[in-house]
This record gives sequence, C-alpha cells and structure tokens, in this order.
Amino acid sequence: MEESRTTIKDKDIMPPDMEPERQQYFMERARSQVGELSDRLGRPLTCCINTFGCQMNARDSEKLLGILETIGYKAVESEEADFVLYNTCTVRENANLRVYGRLGQLGAYKKKHPQMMIALCGCMMQEKEVVDKIKKSYRYVDLIFGTHNIFKLAELVSVCLDSRKKEDESRRGGSGKAHKHQMVVDVWEDTDQIVEDLPVERKYPFKSGVNIMFGCNNFCSYCIVPYVRGRERSRKPEEIVKEISKMASEGVVEVMLLGQNVNSYGKNLDTPMTFAQLLREVEQIEGIRRIRFMTSHPKDLSEELIQVMAQSDKICRHLHLPLQSGSSRILKKMNRVYTKEQFVELAGRIKKAVPGISLTTDIIVGFPGETEEDFQETLDVVRRVEFDSAFTFIYSKRTGTPAASMEDQIPHEEIKDRFDRLLKEVQDISARMCSRDVHTVQEVLVEEVNDHSPDLVTGRLSNNTVVHFPGDSSLIGQLVPVYLEESKGFYYMGKRM
Ligand code: 5AD
Ligand code: SF4
Repeated sequence: MEESRTTIKDKDIMPPDMEPERQQYFMERARSQVGELSDRLGRPLTCCINTFGCQMNARDSEKLLGILETIGYKAVESEEADFVLYNTCTVRENANLRVYGRLGQLGAYKKKHPQMMIALCGCMMQEKEVVDKIKKSYRYVDLIFGTHNIFKLAELVSVCLDSRKKEDESRRGGSGKAHKHQMVVDVWEDTDQIVEDLPVERKYPFKSGVNIMFGCNNFCSYCIVPYVRGRERSRKPEEIVKEISKMASEGVVEVMLLGQNVNSYGKNLDTPMTFAQLLREVEQIEGIRRIRFMTSHPKDLSEELIQVMAQSDKICRHLHLPLQSGSSRILKKMNRVYTKEQFVELAGRIKKAVPGISLTTDIIVGFPGETEEDFQETLDVVRRVEFDSAFTFIYSKRTGTPAASMEDQIPHEEIKDRFDRLLKEVQDISARMCSRDVHTVQEVLVEEVNDHSPDLVTGRLSNNTVVHFPGDSSLIGQLVPVYLEESKGFYYMGKRM
C-alpha cells in the first residue's frame, strides 16, 4: 500500500522533526482547536472508541484514548459522540463484516449530527481493498489510519479539525472559496519506529497490558497478522521496565506482557536478550504481584522459560499455547514448524515443571485439505493435553495469505459439523479441569462488581479462572484469599476467607 504521509502547514511555528516531540506539538495544537470548537458549541466535545479483536488492539485503544483525552475530548459510552473511532480487527472475515455493518449505523448518526467525525484504524485498515471500499462506499468517514502510526492521532485529528473549520467557514460564505469534505488517509506499510512516552488512559487502575514487541515474522499460512502488523520489533527492556515501574507506582499490581509471539522477544535488539531474561527483570519491579503474557508460539518456547515460570511466584500459572491443529500433516501446511508429538511432549513437560498450571489454546477447524482423520488427530491432542479452555475457530480465508490459494477448501457444512464436535469435547474437558481446585483456598485479584448480582464481586485466579464471591466495590484491585466452594463448569463460586 502506498504511504501517504500527512503534512501540516503552519506558517508560524514548524513542528519538530523528531517523535515524540513532534506529537507533543500536535497535542498542543489539537487541544487548542478542540477548545475553540467546544467554546463555540458551549459544551465539551465527546469521543467514543469501539475496539474489535485482540488484547493488542485493546492496549492500542488505551493509547488512542490517552491522546484523545489529552487534546480535550471527554470519553463517553455512546457512539453518538463528536469523535467516534473504530479500532478494527481483520483476523477473520466476520470481523470485517461486523465493521461494515456498524459503519452503516454510524452514517445514520452522522446524518443527525453533521459535526460528528468518524475515524477508522487498526488491522483492517492495512488492507488496500478495505480502504478502497470505504473511500467508495462510506464517504462520510473522516479519517483512516493504520497499525503503524497510532502515535500520530493528535496530528491527524488536527488536520481533520482544520479541514472541518474550512468547510464550516466556506459553508457560512466566509472564505469565498468552496472547501469540500476530504477523507484523510494515512496508512503505512511497515515501520521500524517505536514511539515511547505518549499518554495512555488505562481501562483498569490495577492491571494493564504492556507491549513488549510488535509485529510477527512467522507467516503461518492462514494468518493475515504479519501482513497488517509488520515485521517483528522488540521494545528495549529499559523502556518496558520504566513503563511497568511507573504503572506499579500508580497502583497496578498485574501486568500482561503483550506480543504476537513473546517467545521471540529480544532477538532484534542491539544487545539481544531472551524473553525469560526479560521476565526476570520484570519480576524485580516492586509492587508488581502478578505477571501474565501472551501469546507463545510453541516452536520458540524455551526450557529457560519453563524454568523461570517454575521458580517464580509472580508469573501466573497460566500459559496460552496455540495448537491450531493436532495433525502433523496440517501443521506442516500451516507452516507451524512443530509436529503433533512435539506439541504433546512440550505440553507434558510444562505441566510437570509447573504443577497446577492451566494451559489454554487456539484451534482452527477446516483448514484447506483437513480430512476427518486430521480432525481426529486434533481431538486426540485435545484429550491428551486436557486444555483448561480453548478458543475454537472456523477457518476463514484471508486474501493474500498462502492458504487462501490452496486447493481443497472444505465446504462450510462439513467444517461446522467438526466445529460442533470439537466444541463439545473442549467444553467437557474444560468443565472437568475447572473443578480441580474446588475446596481449596486461592488468591483472587478482584476486578469488578458482578454485573448481574451487585452483592457479588468477580475476579481471577492466578491460572486465569474466573471466581465470583460475596463482596463489594472496596475489594476491586485487591488480591484476596477465597475459598472455592463450587465449580460451575468454567468458573467458581467462592467465599472470602
Ligand atoms: N481463520 C481462522 N482462525 C484464524 N486465526 C488466525 N487466522 C485465522 C484464520 N484465517 C486464529 C488462530 C490464532 C487466533 C488469534 O486466531 O487460531 O491463534
Ligand atoms: Fe499469525 Fe502465526 Fe504470527 Fe500468530 S504466530 S500472529 S498465528 S502468523
């Protein structure tokens, strides 16, 4: 995709060339534009971010909200806001369809509130066909940017507000020259830039995601992520430690280290280091009580990491280890670089070294050429490994990936039948696994008051299982000992000790 970098013309002061100073400049500038507009309207300007997809996107949205709040927008739940941003996902086709569906609804809001601005970002925007379609069929969208330049949001909003101002002035007859609404599109193909020290608005005060790396080099044959998130690049360990230390000083007790494949962390640093070494550094940070991470590619999971997990009392007893398929033949076609036997052996070794660990996974059903025998191999691994839970997906053909042009795409009805059988197997095992800690006392990090029963609070065990127990909002963010009274299949009911 061609790179169309936005340039700002400002006769009086030129913005600095380097980031993050350049964005500090645009935050100031956008802030005064937002202030001017809100004075004119006599009310604060509102914003709403709708996040689709994975934990990476959720973390990106916290950064995007941090910028929007810094420039003066007030966050609201409703999508009838002055600035609405969809942070999109494209890992499967239905994620795209959902966005198109909702965009129609946003168009209707915009007819009612013409001052509204609609922005789209995230993985879906890295696809050229998507941007073309939006330019053609959703012309009321104001701004499109991608995954590589979210740090530029203030600059992009500033451009849109300038354009909006000119449009208003020309409509009122002030400028003499007609100014037409123009969609601002700024999508980069890839970047090696990591911009640090931008504002962030965390969803939870007591836990947070932390990016340790961006992009993916694995090119699993079904997956679009390497094409939309670019090549792997790791943040410097000192930047990660600085960010987590700051979080800890603000009350964060649990961090989730995020990367498409955390096990290859550090390979491209000037001074290479392993993920296990990074974990040891994060463990030293005072105030951090729990460390999670995701996602781990089985091919890169080292013995060193297993040992660090076994020795640590801060690293949570949970590992998300995507299997994708149990058939070595299909794994080869998927370019996963491990066999069924290697996966089963690895899972066994982890369970032995870290007693009580919960293993969760991702499984794709209906990859091109998958036979009933291949599918039986997947069921066999599921039964042997006994995953605590599994995300199961129907294979979705993603344009541009090698699997999309493979022969033997499987008919939907056949996949659906396999999917239903897999789901049943996974749920039965899950229910059995979830009951193994019943009648024990475990530490729970309380996250929220239960939506349906306000006299209950909800939190998670170290192994990520959900627990509900009587309590009130004063417990939120605290680690409390809870007696697990009853297993309800995939969660526990408990009582505080
Ligand atoms: N079809 C179905 N599932 C997919 N995933 C990634 N790409 C596809 C696809 N084309 C699943 C994988 C991955 C998870 C995040 O999404 O299981 O681990
Ligand atoms: Fe996609 Fe494979 Fe990279 Fe995961 S490791 S993001 S499945 S290409």
